[in-house]
Amino acid sequence: MNSNKRVFSGIQPTGEVHLGNYVGAIRNWVDLQSQYESTFCIVDYHAITNEYQPKKLLQRSLEVAATGIAAGLDPERVTLFIQSSVPEHTELTWFLTSLTSVGALERMTQYKDKCARGQGALAGLMSYPILQTADIILYKANLVPVGEDQVQHLELAREIVRRFNNLFGDYFPEPEPLLTSGARVMSLSDPTSKMSKSVEGSYISLTEEPESIRRKIKRAVTDPGPQGGEPGPGVANLFTLLEAFAPEDVTQSFRQDYANQKLRYSDLKATLGECIVTTLDPIRTRRAELLSKPEELKEILAAGGDRAREQARDTIRDVRELMGFQMPVR
Ligand code: TRP
Repeated sequence: MNSNKRVFSGIQPTGEVHLGNYVGAIRNWVDLQSQYESTFCIVDYHAITNEYQPKKLLQRSLEVAATGIAAGLDPERVTLFIQSSVPEHTELTWFLTSLTSVGALERMTQYKDKCARGQGALAGLMSYPILQTADIILYKANLVPVGEDQVQHLELAREIVRRFNNLFGDYFPEPEPLLTSGARVMSLSDPTSKMSKSVEGSYISLTEEPESIRRKIKRAVTDPGPQGGEPGPGVANLFTLLEAFAPEDVTQSFRQDYANQKLRYSDLKATLGECIVTTLDPIRTRRAELLSKPEELKEILAAGGDRAREQARDTIRDVRELMGFQMPVR
């Protein structure tokens, strides 16, 4: 540990984990676990702000957990747990709701986007960033590894913390985003939008078979234009993936070829496909092993939940006192 700062991050248990989630979140968590005291949470309370299937909720969480562990998260070293096993998240959310302005919530881009896409404007969807704030500060986290799209939520979290500290005494640290290095992974079929599991062919799942990985990379959209200058979105995305999965000298040499206008996309794609397969194959195998013993996996997560809950209880005890709730909880 090179610092006494604490790290917290959350990931939604919705749908399949794809390359974008891996490069954008899970891989960074694995790097951070040896540098900071880290807590990683599978945010199933957040998941219910989207349409979801109750019968699959736990399974989705287990899948994300298995993926994280298979990718290298060490549950002995980090606190890895499912949000709903620590009910203090919801209690703190209510307290923070009294400190959050509706106007600020209405300005959140993610909320506006979801409403614009026809999702009914439920209060839970609007309050989502308050729950996210509670997640973070329950563990007094200083650093929050997230992608660009969460910076606005973090800004709101800081605002809420400042208001709390002003009203009730300097208690919570202001959390800072730790921006994920490495660009966002874009869709393979439409590289101007983010990789997403809602479009078949746009994403590579972490459980995908080697043949299918190779095929999807082969079909990825490239640019028709001349090489040499700034690559267009399709080629830029392939370079993003190379940076994430290929040895540096290999990436460099393809960049050279591109600059010299002699890059063959088929060569790049063949190499990239192999590099992704090599990285994902052991993860896929380990993930399947973990999921074949769901009771053991649940036990690991429950133990993480116990550890998280100890900290959460301490925080809630302090917060209740600071905010004036004097009745004992028995
Ligand atoms: N909102 C985050 C996302 O969609 C997930 C999340 C929930 C989160 N709680 C968090 C991220 C706390 C960081 C910290 O990606």
